Amino acid sequence: MKLESKHAAITGGNSGIGLAIARAFRNEGAEVAILGRDPETLQAAATDLGPGTVATRGDVSNLADLDRFFVDAGQAFGGLDLLVVNAGVYSAVPLDDTTPEFFDRMSAVNFRGAFFTVQRALPLLRESASVILVTSTINESGVPGLAVYAATKAAVRSLARSLAAELMPRKIRVNALSPGIIDTPIFGRLGMEDQQVEGLKSDLEGQVPMGRLGTPDEIARAAVFLASDDSSYMTGCELPVSGGLGQI
Ligand SMILES: NC(=O)c1ccc[n+]([C@@H]2O[C@H](COP(=O)([O-])OP(=O)(O)OC[C@H]3O[C@@H](n4cnc5c(N)ncnc54)[C@H](OP(=O)(O)O)[C@@H]3O)[C@@H](O)[C@H]2O)c1
Repeated sequence: MKLESKHAAITGGNSGIGLAIARAFRNEGAEVAILGRDPETLQAAATDLGPGTVATRGDVSNLADLDRFFVDAGQAFGGLDLLVVNAGVYSAVPLDDTTPEFFDRMSAVNFRGAFFTVQRALPLLRESASVILVTSTINESGVPGLAVYAATKAAVRSLARSLAAELMPRKIRVNALSPGIIDTPIFGRLGMEDQQVEGLKSDLEGQVPMGRLGTPDEIARAAVFLASDDSSYMTGCELPVSGGLGQI
């Protein structure tokens, strides 16, 4: 049990990578609070994660929702040892078609949402807490259509450095976790037919040196590492978990 008696808050803990991290943290002995927008998956995740789980419905781009999440977590746990800033949206839009509204919405969730999640959690974070910011290996590469998404993820990677420096006096570690291409419900949200989604996934597999997409559990195991004392000498780092994508 690497996270015995720890208390964790995970945004986007009701789907994909966030849910896998919540399960892994539970299996390692932590109690978890999750935030998401979809009431159905939120309820299902709370049931799956078991008694003691705190589930708050809210949007990370809304500061009042973030505050409510941390009030709920604070009332249940008294404080937080672990914060996983995971909620995010993905969409590929060519430069020509990118509207200011799309730009602002994606930035509001992926970047502004990440920043204020940490800020609003701050009063609850205990000494020696671990903050994990979920970015993407795409933050270091150039892919047509992903300019806005990749830039929001590069901003999140940058936050890990600045916040690690700023929170050092409180002994709070801040690291970025960079998934490559992971098989989650994120692809089902692209507005494509199932068959098109499968086609996209098999195209993407061809780009990964290991020849396959990653699983949410493979990201969750890396999150347990960054959350636990196993990574006690790491802060401001980026940990890529990508089957070699972007590395070789
Ligand atoms: N899958 C990949 O290949 C991949 C690769 C690199 C990085 N990532 C990053 O990993 C993170 C998780 O993605 P995933 O693949 O697990 O996708 P997912 O299954 O679609 O999960 C996204 C999660 O974020 C939540 N979320 C989205 N917008 C939100 C908002 N405005 N407020 C609150 N919650 C919000 C969703 O909750 P609702 O369903 O309730 O909206 C959901 O729980 C994202 O930051 C993504 O950018 C994913």
